[in-house]
Amino acid sequence: MNVTVDLDRQARAILRSNDRGGYTVPTAGLYPYQWNWDSAFAALGFAVFDIDRAWVELETLFSGQWANGMVPHILFHAVDEGYFPGPDVWGTHGHGPIASSGISQPPVAASFARRIYERDPVAGEARLRALFPMMKAWHGWFIKHRGESGAICVTHPWEAGRDNTPDWDQAMARIDASNVGEYQRRDTSHVDADMRPTKYDYDRYITLVNFGSSHDWNEDVILKDGPFRVADPTTTFILLRANRDLKALGDDLGLDTDEIAGWIERLEHGARSLWNPEINAFDSKDLRSNEFSNCVSNASFLNWYAGIDEPRLQPTLERVWQAAKYGIASYDPQGPHFEAFRYWRGPVWAIMNTMIGIGLAERGFSDMADKLRVQTAELIAEQGFAEYYHPQTGKPAGGGTFTWTAAVWLIWASPNAGKV
Ligand code: GLC
Repeated sequence: MNVTVDLDRQARAILRSNDRGGYTVPTAGLYPYQWNWDSAFAALGFAVFDIDRAWVELETLFSGQWANGMVPHILFHAVDEGYFPGPDVWGTHGHGPIASSGISQPPVAASFARRIYERDPVAGEARLRALFPMMKAWHGWFIKHRGESGAICVTHPWEAGRDNTPDWDQAMARIDASNVGEYQRRDTSHVDADMRPTKYDYDRYITLVNFGSSHDWNEDVILKDGPFRVADPTTTFILLRANRDLKALGDDLGLDTDEIAGWIERLEHGARSLWNPEINAFDSKDLRSNEFSNCVSNASFLNWYAGIDEPRLQPTLERVWQAAKYGIASYDPQGPHFEAFRYWRGPVWAIMNTMIGIGLAERGFSDMADKLRVQTAELIAEQGFAEYYHPQTGKPAGGGTFTWTAAVWLIWASPNAGKV
């Protein structure tokens, strides 16, 4: 069998095997629940060969939406002892229809709903009409509860989806984790501890969960007193892009999109406020100290995906890209905190390459977009559908048979993407 066809087949098989009936787990064992942005990527992958299943994935995700509009980062559909922290630690009872975490994740869903809809508008219209107000309410939640600086902030490293990036180091150092108590991690029983966040990080992750839970996830208290509040390029750029897509969908359906247009304008300013001239890149900013993190990460390059041009970023992109062989490392390989295997402190992530590549192509940088796509395709073809990879050797790391890596193969990296 031709190699590409075989990889296409493997990618579909991974989506099917991680399907738990209406939702897809990121990978068996390590992540046994429905994760928010992973699930949206899964929907996009399914759309290539099963459009109904794609919509079901998004519908299941939004079935966990809270009354205040928030869509949680994890939905605990069926309790699994193999994951920590589970629903009892999050203590979110009464907020949403399904047991869940108490924070959100980068809102890629509306952008992907647009792609799914455009594949088959007839099959999608009714489903899109039902999802539209839910997506809008979620975006409004971000603007209201995370948007006071103009850019969008996160209240927990997990909310940005880049758990242990050096972006958070300064903010994390100020968290007093001395009262965290005893707990038992589960992740390191599935994956090598050297590829995961440290105990120092985990003590702070759990301290932040305990803070939210002890205040019953009251957003006013979290805004005023929450120990972690960092404006984040991932969420800011992704929400900006998602609002552009939601507006286009709303216009297409003949709905009122004025409020969304206002959010777009606001976010364009907010995104610009993350430009850090010290490092010539978009950066995260600690809203408690008003300091940039001085970190070039792969989220620094999501601006094109968000429709924001920035010529001053080009040399930074070239420098960071030259230092890695398989796309954009999660953290600057020449930076002082680089660790090639440790999760978001260095490895390459196929989903981030994909969003950066889509943005580059759309903004007219088609050579760079092609190069990024080919490097990602080689990586997956040589190393399999891993969670993340060593940016220079390509060695796979973290979990295997990973849903979102399979999905981005089908929709973007595969030479057949767009044709199947
Ligand atoms: C990790 C990642 C996060 C992802 C989750 C499930 O926590 O950092 O982005 O959503 O795993 O794959």
